Amino acid sequence: SARVVVLISGAGSNAAALLDAAAEPGYGATVVAVGADRRGAGGLALAQEAGVETFTVPFADYGDRGEWNAALSERLDAYRPDLVVSAGFMRIIGAEVLARHTVVNIHPALLPAFPGAHAVRDALAYGVKVTGATAHFADSGVDTGPVIDQVAVRVEPGDDTASLHERIKSVERRMLVDVVGRLAREGWSVQDRQVSLGGPGIRQSPST
Ligand code: GAR
Repeated sequence: SARVVVLISGAGSNAAALLDAAAEPGYGATVVAVGADRRGAGGLALAQEAGVETFTVPFADYGDRGEWNAALSERLDAYRPDLVVSAGFMRIIGAEVLARHTVVNIHPALLPAFPGAHAVRDALAYGVKVTGATAHFADSGVDTGPVIDQVAVRVEPGDDTASLHERIKSVERRMLVDVVGRLAREGWSVQDRQVSLGGPGIRQSPST
């Protein structure tokens, strides 16, 4: 089974959906740890309840971004993940981590529209009628890597940031569970930004 480390900053509802899915036989991926950039992240308690190891690399504990990234990289290496999933992890993952790990990020908008930390607010403010959720491979840009999957969500009259984000999150969770399972079971390849399922993607150990 593919080894997955999930990174979170907040409530961890997407991480929780992955933990549930990974508990099913045949899913193809196991969550080996859930990590956060802050000690209070709600999702850490959910992971502990599920019996999954947790760790924190609090940004405030390090002198600068480089030191923090080195610490994160070291923690990730220890888990030998096949995939790192950034599920509401509100920090930019540095080049040293990206060079060593495949990182899947989820984003609450239809990229390339509305990248950044306030995607739902920005989409509402723009007045779009359709937004959604994106799963993509992380690269060195902010929400710029190759798209794996997207799901559209309509903006309803009267929506505010909270109501719209909730509706996005309910489809985002299902998309994330589907994407991680497929990457784990089928592998993948990326060429000229085009992501195809099937291919060498994951280095599965011979016993799987
Ligand atoms: C998710 O909607 C995720 O896409 C978003 O934060 C939420 C986390 O919810 N991420 C970003 O905005 C990254 N730019 P969760 O903690 O309940 O899974």
